[in-house]
Parts: sequence; structure tokens; C-alpha cells
Amino acid sequence: MAFSFSDRYLGKFISSFDYAAVIDEAKYAFDLVKNKNGQGSDFLGWVNLPYDHDMEEYERIKKAAKKIQDTCDVFLVIGIGGSYLGARAAVEFVKGNLYNEKKKDTPNIYFIGNDISSSHMRDVIELCEGKDVCINVISKSGTTTEPGIAFRVLRSMLEKKYGAAANERIFVTTDAKKGALRPQAEEYKYESFVVPDDIGGRYSVLSAVGLLPIAVAGIDLDEMFEGAKAAADKYSKNFNETNECVKYACIRNLLLRKGKNIELLASNDPSMTMFCEWWKQLYGESEGKDGKGLYPASVIYSTDLHSLGQYIQEGQRTLFETVINVNIEDNFVIEADKTNADGLNFVAGKTINYVNQQAVLGTALAHVDGNVPNIAIEITSRNAYDFGYLVYFFEFACAVSGYMLGINPFNQPGVEAYKKNMFALLGKPGYEEATKSINERLEKLSK
Ligand code: PA5
Repeated sequence: MAFSFSDRYLGKFISSFDYAAVIDEAKYAFDLVKNKNGQGSDFLGWVNLPYDHDMEEYERIKKAAKKIQDTCDVFLVIGIGGSYLGARAAVEFVKGNLYNEKKKDTPNIYFIGNDISSSHMRDVIELCEGKDVCINVISKSGTTTEPGIAFRVLRSMLEKKYGAAANERIFVTTDAKKGALRPQAEEYKYESFVVPDDIGGRYSVLSAVGLLPIAVAGIDLDEMFEGAKAAADKYSKNFNETNECVKYACIRNLLLRKGKNIELLASNDPSMTMFCEWWKQLYGESEGKDGKGLYPASVIYSTDLHSLGQYIQEGQRTLFETVINVNIEDNFVIEADKTNADGLNFVAGKTINYVNQQAVLGTALAHVDGNVPNIAIEITSRNAYDFGYLVYFFEFACAVSGYMLGINPFNQPGVEAYKKNMFALLGKPGYEEATKSINERLEKLSK
């Protein structure tokens, strides 16, 4: 793989003095991650994952994936947030966003339990009709509403179809000891895997949380770990100004201080869509607290240039973009057309990727002219190694960036607020006081 990171478009926005002003902060933040002595440091298990993971479980995951590939046409992955985004990002990154539609010898994979939509559920059940199905329910707590409801529905579907044999088709990924799914896994003898205690959801894709679905899609786990290890070797060992994780963390913090409070992760390939979603959770949940943080958003080019392009070029000047340019040589040559009705014969003889590259370049120049700073990342392949590398790059940079911002990058206190209201409205036992007060509030609002 070739991964490159460049600040070539940033000259007009960030000076060497700016860098000099934050480099000590970056060193301080880097050391907090490396020495594991910052806030939330008991959630740094992901830092060493490329070097050290439970090999017994790793081999069991590979075996389980093989069993699932051999015995089912449809694999349902139930989970939300950190228990879902990484695996889906990996499948689409490596296999393409049309993975399910492609001819292949691995099962279709549907991600469910990541919303509360009955029509999504109905559609997935319909897709299972007449098919052999396995389930991986992934939830550290085992009590999250969305995957909990989905598991109830889909487990019952499996039990109706297979009777007691359904148990062999259910795989559980949850906390080692605590959590509601652990006793169920034991009672029903579901094969189970562990969400490590020291790894939070959004940093968990290289743990059992991501590994089983990724392996079922036929993605080589060893290769993925090689990529993650290459990034860990390069970025997590030594602090220096050329460390690209450090650079990325510095640039983001500098741009934020200059009023650019929205970061767009952009890519020029639709297979990056879910990778961008994974990144949004990683950065949004890590940094958005204490009234601080960049708002992470994403766009796919050139698709979104025909919708959001206008805003990016000329709307409020609070944006910067980090572009992951997927530059993979192809031999998809555009043919000349006799009539040239669309006026596109000027690209005849060129490859589609060549055109895509000119679009990336032209867009970067236009956006920089429009005062949108651009961080340029490029990858020249999209395989398991690349995925592991990119994941580690963004995770490590996120931890450094979060500490530079002065927050704890590993907690997520704010996600409880909506749950408290929802549970109060649903009448969950233990929420009686909250139910009373929310009903009074709603009554006032309706007057
Ligand atoms: O990053 C996080 O902690 C969250 O996104 C969780 O992963 C998500 O809420 C799911 O939680 P659980 O795995 O307990 O079902």
C-alpha cells in the first residue's frame, strides 16, 4: 500500500509559527497516550492491539467465520455505534459498497439493530426468507435498546426456523463477565467472544467486535493486522514533527482555533462512505464535549459536489476538509463516441480513475481558493492492510488530538441524555421520577 499525507495546500492557512506554537502541546498529548497517564487512560487497550491480542480467541473467530461461511447465505450483524460501524466500514472499504449484490462465495451481510425502524427490520426479515441465516449480536452492555430489540426479534425468527439448533447459529460478542448477554450466551451455549474492558466501542474495530463480521466477508485478518502494526510502528513509538498522526492532530487543532470548526472527511470513492461514518463516530464522540471539538461531517466526491459542493465553495467559511484520495490505477478506458452528443470526447482514451484524479485535484484547488483548507491523504489500494493502517492512523491521531483539545477522548457522557428521556417516555422501571417530570414538561409545551 502507499499511504501519503500532505499539508501542501495549507500554506495559506497555517504558518511554521503556528506549528511551532502547538508542538509542545502535541508532545504533551502524545506522551499522555504513550505513557498511558492521561484522562481515560484505562481505555487505551487498542494502542497495543496490533502487537498483542488474544490468539486463542483470534483462531476461534477465524473458525467461527469459516463455519458461518459454510452454513449460511445470510449473516446478520446486530449492533450499534462502536459495535457496528467499524465492521461495516471494513466490509465496504475492502469489498466495495455493493458487496451484497456481488457474486461471491461468502454470505450476504446485513447490519441491523443500528436504528429503531420497523421497516428496516421487515426488509431484513424478508431478505432472510428461504435462506440459511446466522447471527452475530454485538453489545458490550447487552442492554442497548436498538440491538436488544433486534436480537429479540431475530433470535425468535431463528428459533422458529431451526428449533434448538438455532443456538449453533448465534454468535455473541460481549463483555467478558458483566452485561446481559453473557448469562444468555452461557445458558444457550452460544459461541461467544469478548469485548475487552479497556477498549471503548469506537476504538474496538480491531477487537472481536469487528473481527468476526470482517472475517465472514472473506477479509484477511492477518493482513489487516499487518497494516495496523505498520501504522503503530510508524506513529505510536516516537514523537517527532514528521509523525503524520502528530501533524494531523496539530493541523486540526490549529484550524479549529482559527474558526474552522467543521471538518469534512471527503473521499472520491463510494466504498469509503461507511469508513467516513466510522470516522465521524470516532472523532465526534471522542472530542465533542465540554463545549469543545470540531464537528465531524463527511462527503463523497464527486457525488456530493453536485449537492453540497455549492455550500463548501461559498457557504459559511467554517469548514476545512481532509480528503482521502483513493487513487487506484484502472484500465477502464473511456471510449470515443461518434456523435459526441455529450461533448465528452475530450476524455476519450483516458481511464475513469484518471478523470477522478483530475476531479480531486480541481476540487482541492477550487476549495482552497474558496478558503477551505485541505489536508491531502492518498491511498493507492483498498485492501485489508490499508484498512488496518488507516484505522490505526485515525485512532492514534484522535487520541493525540483529543488530549491537545484538553478533553478526555475516551468517555461519552453526553450519549446518556436522550436515553434518559426515551426510557422515561417508555416507562422503564427505575425512571418513575423522570417519567413524571417529562410528562409535566410535555404538557406545558402543548399549551
Ligand atoms: O462507542 C460507544 O461506546 C458506543 O457507540 C457504543 O458502542 C454503543 O452505544 C453500543 O453499546 P453496546 O456495545 O453496549 O451495545
